[in-house]
Amino acid sequence: MATAPDRRLLTFDPAGVFHPLHGLQARDLAKLAPSLERAREEVLVEDARHYRDGTAPPEKQPLDHGFFELPERLLADFRKDRQQSMLGHILATAERLKKLVDKVVVLGIGGSYMGAKALLEACCRPYFNDLSRANRGNCPRIYFEGNNIDNDASRGLLDLFGRGRADSFDKRWAIVVISKSGETLETAVAFRQFASALRESVGGDAKQLAQLIVPVTGASGRLADLAKALGCPPNETFPVPDGVGGRFSVLSAVGLVPAALMGLDVVALLEGAAAMNEHFRQAPPADNVVLKYVGTAHLLEARRGANVRVLSVWSKGLEYAGLWYDQLLAESLGKRELGATPLTTVNTRDLHSRAQQHQEGRRDKLFTNVIVDRWRSQPLPVGRSDRDEDKLNDIAGRTLPELMSAAIQGTNEAYREDGRPTADLHLPASDEWSLGQFFQMLMLATVVEGRLLGINPYGQPGVQKYKDNMKRILGRE
Ligand code: PA5
Repeated sequence: MATAPDRRLLTFDPAGVFHPLHGLQARDLAKLAPSLERAREEVLVEDARHYRDGTAPPEKQPLDHGFFELPERLLADFRKDRQQSMLGHILATAERLKKLVDKVVVLGIGGSYMGAKALLEACCRPYFNDLSRANRGNCPRIYFEGNNIDNDASRGLLDLFGRGRADSFDKRWAIVVISKSGETLETAVAFRQFASALRESVGGDAKQLAQLIVPVTGASGRLADLAKALGCPPNETFPVPDGVGGRFSVLSAVGLVPAALMGLDVVALLEGAAAMNEHFRQAPPADNVVLKYVGTAHLLEARRGANVRVLSVWSKGLEYAGLWYDQLLAESLGKRELGATPLTTVNTRDLHSRAQQHQEGRRDKLFTNVIVDRWRSQPLPVGRSDRDEDKLNDIAGRTLPELMSAAIQGTNEAYREDGRPTADLHLPASDEWSLGQFFQMLMLATVVEGRLLGINPYGQPGVQKYKDNMKRILGRE
């Protein structure tokens, strides 16, 4: 019998921050409540209004607030007209491709890559690409490229896909190319290379080629033009909506197209995000996970100089969810010589590489443990051995989740005893519902924190400099 999905909200507990050794108390967070409420109001009312009427004052431009109500909008459209809604088209495209190809390469970088990769790692079965087609739910194997200009990696993947005509199902593949601007160098170069190999694989047949390329891009731009020129079907060319910034786009077609191809429940993903929106709007600061997280991080940064924000994920599958947040925080708030430095650690792995510094190094960190409450598979016990040479029989019968809990508790205690601030973010499970909440919580938190600090969280003016230099060096001016 199928078990009912776990629809709990994720929780944030900052108790490990309020410790005599940090000089911070729970009442400091309570005192911050009016400022947090003002920042929430700014996001809910002022940003929403300016986003809709397009008259944002100069200091608020760009104002890419469109991510906020996107989950509700996509769900409402889908419920109104399953077939004609964007979600309906995404699901239909995924179903069509699943029948046609064994592999899909998703081309994209930054906000056009990290979210999809995070979803694959967090929500799909481990070693997804190595599973049989049946165990992948008839989904294609998923690869990522266009996220670098690494010669060996690109060539390696092209070699894996094979040259020449694809004459059997296991040799057939497709491209999802994602770029909001449509002109990011890494993605554009990879698209040219992979599209050329794909053309060979269909023997130069332009019609077949167009059926095997799914573009996700802004309404206009080079990729939009290219998609038209290639003849990609308009109902299978998906938009990155106006007013949704790259790193805020995981719950648009940018993340949803790859997620549907992975066989994920995109409705649950959006419902998780919508539930987080509702919680953010309604819950008072003392219970509001977004406001509590921002308030805690802000207090530590402002009062204790803790400007390194460590996301300690206690599950291998959440590494890319952490890296997705690294980009979100770094590109959104790393401006005007402000903004915390994000760092993802995967435990227990990184206890063997970073714990020394975290236990005894500079006191400049907030550790937020990201803990999954329910593992997806049956707990794996430590076996019993007759001879016990490895001296593990004392824990024989204990399971990996039990060992993990002991590691979390032991690490938290060690940090707390030395006055190292820790907080716990609990995800009900590593699934679509939780990830939807996680993404939305941290996008909202980043925007609220920006408003609190007076930093515009949208736009990334600083990344233009290296791009200009690179252009000049390549003689492209
Ligand atoms: O957050 C952002 O806007 C960036 O990280 C972009 O996502 C990244 O540069 C890729 O841009 P594009 O989708 O235009 O190719």
